[in-house]
Amino acid sequence: MSKPEEVKHRFEWDAQSFAGIYGDSLVSRSFNRIFRKAVFDRYVVTMTESGDARGKSILDVGCGSGIYSIELARRGARRVLGIDFSEPMLAIARASAKEIGVADRVEFVRDEFLGHEFGDERFGVSIAMGVFDYLEDPGPFLAKMSRLTRGTLLASFPKFSVIRGTARRLRYRLTGRGDVFYYSPEGVGRLAESAGIRKHRLVPIRSSGGGVILVGDNG
Ligand SMILES: C[S@@+](CC[C@H](N)C(=O)[O-])C[C@H]1O[C@@H](n2cnc3c(N)ncnc32)[C@H](O)[C@@H]1O
Repeated sequence: MSKPEEVKHRFEWDAQSFAGIYGDSLVSRSFNRIFRKAVFDRYVVTMTESGDARGKSILDVGCGSGIYSIELARRGARRVLGIDFSEPMLAIARASAKEIGVADRVEFVRDEFLGHEFGDERFGVSIAMGVFDYLEDPGPFLAKMSRLTRGTLLASFPKFSVIRGTARRLRYRLTGRGDVFYYSPEGVGRLAESAGIRKHRLVPIRSSGGGVILVGDNG
């Protein structure tokens, strides 16, 4: 299996448990807010840095169960395009969009991002949260995001920590979830420059398991 195929396969059978991270039950919410705090912190940073969503067009790369797409539509985005190659993830996303009443403004497309043809469409905001963790070759991915973005580009990059990073790698390998990739802030800066992003800064996510959010400005 190629690397993208492995990641796709992983998020096909793992969709319910991934979506459960944001789950509604008090027990799962409390557990995840403590042990997966970085996931919630990056959500807060993304909502802040994407600014006023009203009237904007938004691209959500690796949208998964649609948490970001749906919230940005709820906040008034004119159009949100969520793309992900895992159909079970998208099934959850479509059902949530319907339930929350934003299905008319959110389109969920099943495809591999690098292979997807976007035509002339460009976006005011693009985001990729929790996606670069799984990319063996992040350069072309970020460069394509940059080409599609006219305004703000937001992407999360995990950093390695000896205990948590090693444990995560080991857990993924033992459970057949493939590999995970880590980045230094300097490495993210270099990636942003070679991707052609006009200006950028990094917002640190200090909670355990965090890293940085790249905030690019192509406006
Ligand atoms: C950890 S989940 C994050 C989902 C969502 N962004 C969030 O933060 O809740 C990563 C998602 O990226 C998707 N993904 C990874 N590589 C992809 C690719 N090359 N093309 C499309 N989707 C991809 C996976 O299927 C998965 O649903």
